[in-house]
Amino acid sequence: MNSLRAWEIHRLSDDPEQALRIASCPPSPPPRSGEVVVDVRAVALGFPDLLVSQGNYHEKPRLPCIPGGEGVGTVVAVGDSVPREMIGGRYLLTRDGPARGLLRQQVTLHVGEVLPISDVMPDAVAASLFIAYQTAFMALTRRRKGDLRAGETLLVHGAAGGVGSAAVELGKAFGARVIAVVRGAEKMAAALRSGADAVVDSASGSIVDRVLAETDGRGADVVFDPVGGPALQASMRCIAVEGRILVVGFASGERLPVPTNHALVKNYSVIGFRTRPFRLDEAYRRQVHDQLVALYAQGLIRPSCQLIGFNDVPKGLRQLQDRAVTGRLVVDMTEGRFAGDA
Ligand SMILES: NC(=O)c1ccc[n+]([C@@H]2O[C@H](COP(=O)([O-])OP(=O)(O)OC[C@H]3O[C@@H](n4cnc5c(N)ncnc54)[C@H](OP(=O)(O)O)[C@@H]3O)[C@@H](O)[C@H]2O)c1
Repeated sequence: MNSLRAWEIHRLSDDPEQALRIASCPPSPPPRSGEVVVDVRAVALGFPDLLVSQGNYHEKPRLPCIPGGEGVGTVVAVGDSVPREMIGGRYLLTRDGPARGLLRQQVTLHVGEVLPISDVMPDAVAASLFIAYQTAFMALTRRRKGDLRAGETLLVHGAAGGVGSAAVELGKAFGARVIAVVRGAEKMAAALRSGADAVVDSASGSIVDRVLAETDGRGADVVFDPVGGPALQASMRCIAVEGRILVVGFASGERLPVPTNHALVKNYSVIGFRTRPFRLDEAYRRQVHDQLVALYAQGLIRPSCQLIGFNDVPKGLRQLQDRAVTGRLVVDMTEGRFAGDA
């Protein structure tokens, strides 16, 4: 096989065109025990990939490094102790750590880093089903985290983004009433397609007034916040008594101090949620994956994907930076040989 292509971050820059370049990599060597070699079909990119390329992620990878923490691909070789039947099968691919390394046409993974998907699940959907959905699922359901109950009101910021749209769909699947906050008419339409019961345009009018009006003055029981800054400020003013604000990310770039006296007086909790430690628990990750696959089969979640070609990766990251992506950004690594549409 000729050399294969990858995107690598070779320098840190606010401009993705400056930070990334195409590199050629040799085909993977024969897999060792417990490993599989995979031809990568699609990779989903999210805000963390952008932050890594800017040097703004909380972990700093050594450069050059290949981004991409979730995708889908076909197993082409297996090492000892891995069932040979896996060869030829399509799997969801996962890679943790800041230098995640999936944005390449062929990759070697530990067998625990590939998860089964159904034959009918399109590539773009499978590639989008890990980071955003596992983050939203774990944040909303762990008893000491969001613990969202049927009938409660869930407020989701950045609700047309990757992680936010997953939270809207899962909130509905868990029986909550979902209020989505987005900017602009196009994203309002996207949030409604994800199933939101009410949508607030952050660019016009007060988020707080709308949420209080939608909840008869009670406020939201659970807030899912991947945005931070002004979103957190608004949440603290429209959180219900005994409400839970889940701090999931800082897409706004603003990290605010939390006034603990306010949390005391209004009886609410502000809870940080980072998915990685939980995702490293292989059994739990697999359990959540199986539940997500089942929710997809029941039509209760439908990842919305914006597809781009391999050569357009820097342009795609720029779109994330410009808040111009709805749902998940998915890179076609096969030049159009996707399995079905999203
Ligand atoms: N806690 C975890 O384990 C975990 C896991 C994955 C991701 N994250 C974090 O979650 C956040 C969202 O990730 P994502 O992949 O869902 O990103 P995304 O698809 O780009 O969505 C982020 C959303 O934030 C909103 N936003 C508000 N201010 C923004 C700004 N200044 N720049 C860009 N977006 C802005 C945008 O919605 P509007 O334009 O509608 O306002 C956008 O749709 C990131 O901070 C990421 O690091 C955390």
